[in-house]
Amino acid sequence: MKPSIFSSFIVATCMLLFVACSGPSDESAQTEELAPELLAGKAVVEKTCIACHGQGLNGAPILGNKKMWGKRLPQGEDVLVSHAINGFAMEMMPPRGGNPGLSDEDIRNAVRYMMSLVQ
Ligand code: HEC
Repeated sequence: MKPSIFSSFIVATCMLLFVACSGPSDESAQTEELAPELLAGKAVVEKTCIACHGQGLNGAPILGNKKMWGKRLPQGEDVLVSHAINGFAMEMMPPRGGNPGLSDEDIRNAVRYMMSLVQ
């Protein structure tokens, strides 16, 4: 075996080992238990709010995007909740996310969940 072939064999073996060992990491270990109100909020967000806040429609702050939420968080939970209940920014953010069936508590839970994603 010529040295050059031998060394490329070594390189190939190392790459194979690397690929074999770097499979998908086990993320379940990182999943935290959510408090009940956050779980309830998550359900509301995933049903209603995600339509705009998932992709950032019309500039909606994207879920989990710290930069987009950075200026909004300092207003505090109560102000954010009242904006979500009453509508905000010429109703680009519609009252209750456009779902009048949601209670004040549903909205508060949803806002808490959104905040928890960026804290
Ligand atoms: C029809 C699209 C749409 C839906 C549905 C929607 N939002 Fe929004 N939301 C927006 C937009 C757009 C903004 C950004 C408005 C702005 O500041 O220009 C926003 C902003 C917000 C803010 C920040 C308000 C502030 O004071 O900075 C909160 C909190 C919020 N939404 C909560 C919710 C919750 C909770 C739901 C679900 C119940 C929801 N949104 C559903 C479009 C939506």
